[in-house]
This record gives sequence, C-alpha cells and structure tokens, in this order.
Amino acid sequence: MADANAISDHWGQGDIYALILETMKSAGIDPKSATIEQLAPVDHFHARGFPATVELADALPVREGDRIVDIGCGIGGPARYLANRFRCQVDGIDITAPFVDAASKLSALVGMEETVKFRNGDGQQLPYSGEAFDGGYTQHVTMNVPDRDLFFAEAFRVLKPGAFFALTEHGLGEIGSPYHPVPWSKDGSGAYLMRPADTVAVLERTGFKDFEVTETGDKYLQGYKAAIALAEKGEAPVFGSHILLGNLAPQIVRNAARNIEERRTQPVQIICYKPLEPRGDQR
Ligand SMILES: C[S@@+](CC[C@H](N)C(=O)[O-])C[C@H]1O[C@@H](n2cnc3c(N)ncnc32)[C@H](O)[C@@H]1O
Repeated sequence: MADANAISDHWGQGDIYALILETMKSAGIDPKSATIEQLAPVDHFHARGFPATVELADALPVREGDRIVDIGCGIGGPARYLANRFRCQVDGIDITAPFVDAASKLSALVGMEETVKFRNGDGQQLPYSGEAFDGGYTQHVTMNVPDRDLFFAEAFRVLKPGAFFALTEHGLGEIGSPYHPVPWSKDGSGAYLMRPADTVAVLERTGFKDFEVTETGDKYLQGYKAAIALAEKGEAPVFGSHILLGNLAPQIVRNAARNIEERRTQPVQIICYKPLEPRGDQR
C-alpha cells in the first residue's frame, strides 16, 4: 500500500475543508449560504473544471432515481452536480482521506448529505456489492492507477448489466515523456499514463463495449492557456482549484499545456457500456 499512501499524500494533506472555507471567505463568499454553483470553481478538480463536468454529464444517460458511482471523486463537485441535475444518488470514493472529509463536509454545507455519500478507498478494490450501480464514471483519476485491469474489473463488477462507464484522463501522447510537475505527479512517480488505444483495449478485455472515444486535447489546451493568461495579468480568481495544487500551481499548469501542445500527453474522454448479456467467458 506504500504507493497508495504516496498518491494520497500527493493529492491532499491536512485540513482541506478548512483551506476551502478560508479561501471562500477571502473571496467574499459566505459559507453559511454557499451554493453548489459557488463551490464549482474549486470542487470540479480536473482540467477545465466545471464546463468539462457539464459536457461529460450531457453525454451520460443518467435517469432520475439512478444510483451512480464516482470513482476518484476528489472533493465531490461532479458528484453533487450530477445528483442535483439528474435527481440521482451518487456514491463517491477516493483514495485521499482529506478529500473525502472535505467532500462530505461540503455536501453538508449545501444540504446534499442525503443524495451524495463519500467513502475513503481505492478504486482497485471497491467496497460495494456487485451490480449495485446504474452507471459509473472516473474523471481524471486513472493517470495514478498502476493496475488498470483491476481498476476497470472493479468498475465492471459493481455496475448493473447495461450500465454506462465513463472515463476522462490525460492519456500518454505520441511523443511521451511528459514534463513534470503535472497535477498528478511532481516528478513522474505515481504516474501510470497509457496511450488512449491501450486504455480502450483494457476496457474491451474487461468486457465493456460500445465505445465512444473523444479527443479532448484542444479544449484542455485552450482552458490551460486561458488560465495562464489570467495569471499573467494578475487576474486569477482567488477561489479556484489552484488552491489544491499548492505553490507549484503555475508551473503545473504551464507543463500541462506544454505536454498537450508537444503531444507528450493526449487527453481523452471514453464512454462505454457493460453488456446486458455476459460474454461466454463471463458466464
Ligand atoms: C484530478 S483529481 C479528480 C477528482 C475528481 N474526479 C474531480 O474530477 O473533481 C484526481 C483524484 O483521483 C484520486 N485517486 C487517484 N488514484 C485513485 C485510486 N486508485 N482510487 C481512488 N481515487 C484515486 C485522487 O485522490 C484525486 O482525488
């Protein structure tokens, strides 16, 4: 588990909820009346933030009353957004305990503790029974996952037949060798990037089918460039997800952009489905 601890320590240590509350107040937001819209600049903790979650949600067949799993839920912005938008239940799980603590407290702050539940754990070993969920997603998590076969097999196990599974990530680009630090690793340790075609191959051998693969690099590059331009003008928002990246944030954002531009990374969104009928070898 040494690697799991290193990954968790990389993402978040200490009282993340206190950090968010303190920054919220500095930005003039009253925590007592905070809304999920006001939390959005911080709690959609992935490239392009909230707009990327909305685009992913637009592509997912979620129905009212569904139970959805968010694997690597971070501090819970996407889970709260989906639960609120679709009137569904979302269970989030994340390897970083301070994020799970913040996710639960932020949900309580906006009165959503009944519809979104968070647990600390590893996506490679999910603490849920089989066929429990109508759909699942993992947004910008798999860059840190050493055993994708296990991670996807666990997702497959907890999904009902016919359920969707969606993944967004920075895949390994044609050129490879990304510059560091990047959001998921300071120096390359704990990073397990794979080429998008290889990720699809793992999902396929896990049993998923009906793939929709979308390259998202151009959009992410534009997003990073917009953030860099604002920072250079001294106009970066006080309340933004950079607070979770620490003092390396400017360098991290520049590297993330450069990596896409130089085809060292290749961001991608993949949506696929668990078949209604098990394959012959899965009966
Ligand atoms: C970039 S953040 C994304 C958080 C969230 N998905 C979002 O989009 O707001 C990556 C997250 O993946 C989590 N993570 C990394 N490896 C994991 C694993 N094996 N199981 C569960 N969570 C993991 C990290 O703790 C971190 O919260």
